Order: sequence, then structure tokens, then C-alpha cells
Amino acid sequence: MTQHNRANSGVFEPSGKIQFGIFFQGVNSGTIWKAAESGSQTDFESFRRIAQTAERGLFAAFFLGEGLRLREHLGRPHGLDVVGRPDAQTMLAALASVTKNIGLVATQNTTYNDPADLAHRLASLDLISGGRAAWNIVTTDNAWTGANFRRGGYLDHADRYKHAEAFVETAKRIWDSWETPAGPARRVLHEGQHYTVDVTPRLPRSAQYRPVLFQAGDSPEGRSFAARHADVIFSAHPKFDDAVEFRKDLVERSLAAGRGANAVQIMPASEFILAPTAGEALEKKEWVRSLQIGPQQAVAYLEQFWGRELSGYDPDGPLPEIDPVVEETSETRGSGFHGAKARQLADQWRAEAKDKGLSIRQFVSSKTARVDATFTGSYTAVADRLAEYARVGAVDGFNISPWLIPTGLDDIVNHLVPELQERGVYPTEYAGSTLRENLGLGTPVRSADETAGAVRAS
Ligand SMILES: Cc1cc2nc3c(=O)[nH]c(=O)nc-3n(C[C@H](O)[C@H](O)[C@H](O)COP(=O)(O)O)c2cc1C
Repeated sequence: MTQHNRANSGVFEPSGKIQFGIFFQGVNSGTIWKAAESGSQTDFESFRRIAQTAERGLFAAFFLGEGLRLREHLGRPHGLDVVGRPDAQTMLAALASVTKNIGLVATQNTTYNDPADLAHRLASLDLISGGRAAWNIVTTDNAWTGANFRRGGYLDHADRYKHAEAFVETAKRIWDSWETPAGPARRVLHEGQHYTVDVTPRLPRSAQYRPVLFQAGDSPEGRSFAARHADVIFSAHPKFDDAVEFRKDLVERSLAAGRGANAVQIMPASEFILAPTAGEALEKKEWVRSLQIGPQQAVAYLEQFWGRELSGYDPDGPLPEIDPVVEETSETRGSGFHGAKARQLADQWRAEAKDKGLSIRQFVSSKTARVDATFTGSYTAVADRLAEYARVGAVDGFNISPWLIPTGLDDIVNHLVPELQERGVYPTEYAGSTLRENLGLGTPVRSADETAGAVRAS
């Protein structure tokens, strides 16, 4: 059965394969950036090295996230954000010139961009990379970012996806309107609630027709949106049972959207802590966790929920007895309100930490580490686990966040990839030169009304 037929099938069929992406995070508490081994988060050399290592390991995609405003903490920029994060499309354009096969995925939100502009910039990346560009569609989840844009305001959750729908449809129409049967390039008109578009595409199609569409966003609206539009979902469900459940949900949504059961691939966020033996991997995990959250970061994390300075507290001691001063908890102004009552949360956390005998540092580490997303073990044991994911089709691959930049992929590429290849679940060469080919995606079919010249409104 060809890939195209598999994509259109009404019955889900596991591909039996695992593919990898690398998610280079500039802003997070999962990367160790205060250790002798840590590199820069802004130096091009870090990006080049990790992208080329990923390509040596036949990774399908190199991802960059997007964060448009520094989070704040007690009125100051959040310490973890200050390492910097270059613009994704600029960085990917530079990486296109030092890589050959790996896909280049830019996370770009639909809430603050404009479709004609973004479609052109993504088409440019697609063209100069020889058909390797992808767009990870997000709506962004906080009002804090909205305040940074001249439109101001903040769209409600439901409105953000309505906006995203019109945005993505407009972008697709722009890409589809180059060389239609009616002529070289056709005008695309859109009249919507949030913007009006009157554009004639300025670029020819790329080697993969148009950028591949990824999606990240986990609400029911987000999932249904992905089922209608995405080629791949960047999910938050790497644990086996959870991944199987997520696949089931996605297959149902894809069929309801009139697409095939295999139309949307799934790549969850993940972290790998590997070593030759299980014991060494566990030791390594302790080391990684101790460096991911340092003493100051541990105290600062609690300060976000307590709403007050806690610098007098020993990071290796118990959680503060003193009560929070805020009414509601907020994990930085950037992540939005959690809504729990601060006092209740503090009581609950103090009890939990006491119960488990955890210090501030250990407790914060347990809350912030990618606990669910971590594969810890020997190369062979982890390869066996991933082969099981491939066998049942729980996922199509994993989007790996390395805990160390820029050498964090080395052991995955040197040791895990060969183990997976031996098990027949990982590619032994790139299938082609475009991202679409390497993901095994068919060529998009131009929507029927693209030939009719309709003006669409939302
Ligand atoms: C795995 C994953 C990665 C994400 N990465 C980003 C990101 O880099 N930038 C961003 O603005 N939002 C990111 N998001 C969140 C999206 O903005 C998402 O649209 C938002 O959470 C609101 O959608 P939802 O309610 O459907 O989850 C990510 C979400 C997931 C699940």
C-alpha cells in the first residue's frame, strides 16, 4: 500500500516506524545551562552543531519554539528566560545552508501574525531549503504576550482557534494559488473579523509543494483543529498508555473531519537520559535533575506561587512555613493563572513534600522536570520500549528536547539510533530531500474551491 493510500484509509494502520525530531528550547527549566558542559543558547555554533548531529542521526526535523515576551517574576524578568532566544525563521534560514535533509520547523502563532506575511516568509524558507520547511501552528496561551502587540487585547480561547482556522485556510489558499489552471498566480481575497487579505502569491511552489503543517495545542478545540489541518501533531502525551489514548482520540477526530485515520502523525515531546546500563542511567538522571533546577531557581519557582521573596529559605530545607501573600497562584505572569487558591496550594505542597521527605530543591525538581516525558535507561532497554511504541503505532516518533546544548543528542545518535535501526524501526537513510518525503506524507491536494476563485469570509 502506498503512503498516499495509507493516509486516506479509514482504518488506523501503525507505520511500524519511529522518527525523531529535535526541539531546541531556548526558554525552559529543562536545559542545563549553568554547567561546564553547557553551551550558548544564542551562538549560531550551538544551533549548527546540534542540527548537524541530528542530521547525522537521520532526524526528520529540527524544531524551534516561540516565546514572544519574557515572563516576569515578582516584577522582574524571569531568570530562566534571560538566556535569549533568536527568531526561529531567521535561525532556520541560516541552518538551511549548513544542512541538507533535515526538516526545519518554525513555531509561529496565529494570534499575532498576519497570514499573508507569514505565508510568504514560510514559503521563502521552504524555497531556500529545497522543500524542508514546516510551520508548527500555535495560538499561544497567554494574555501576557498579547500586551506586547499593538493590537493589544487577548483573544478568548474559542476565538483563538476560530482565528487560527481562518488564518491557516488563508495561508493554504495563498500557497495553492501559484500556478493554478487559470494562470500563473491567482489573487486571494479574504474578509474576516480580524483581518482582510488581498494578496497574489509572490513565490513559486517549493520542492515539497508547500510547508508541512505541525500543530501544538492540547485542548479539545486544538485537537480538532489539528485533525482538520495538521500533517503532524507535536503532542504532550509521550507516556505509553496516554499516547495510545491520544492516538485513539486523534483517529476519531481525523475521521470526523473527513480525513483518513492515518492522516495525522503524532510526535510527543520527550527527554532521554541514556547510558550503557540502567544503573548508570539512573545516576545520570540524578545529576541532570540536580543541575536543571539550581538552588536559586528552586526558591524562585516557589516565589511565583507564594508571591513574595523567599530568599532566606534554605533550598535544601523544607518548604516555607510562611503563607503566600497572593490570592490566586500564578506560575509567572507569562503562563497565565492556574486558578488554585494560593493558600490551599501551599498547604497541599507542604504536605506532599513532607510526606515524600523532599527539600525545596527536590520538590521543585519533581514539579518542573519533564517527569512524564522522560525515557531513562540503557540504550538497549529504551530501544526495546520505543520499538513497542512503533509496533502498536502509539506515536510516529518523538520530538526530543536535549537537556544539554549543544552535545545533548550525541549519545542518542551514537547509541540509541543504531539500536533502533537493528530492530528495524528507524530509517537507515533519508527517504528523499524534502521533509514531506522524509515523513512519508503525500502531496497536498489543492482544495476544490481554489479553482473557483471564491472570496472566503470568516
Ligand atoms: C508540546 C507543545 C509545545 C508548544 N510550544 C509552544 C511554543 O513554542 N510557543 C507557543 O507560543 N506555544 C506553544 N504551545 C502552546 C500553544 O500555544 C497552544 O496553542 C496553547 O496551549 C493553546 O492551545 P490549547 O489550549 O489547545 O493547548 C505548545 C504546546 C504544546 C502541547
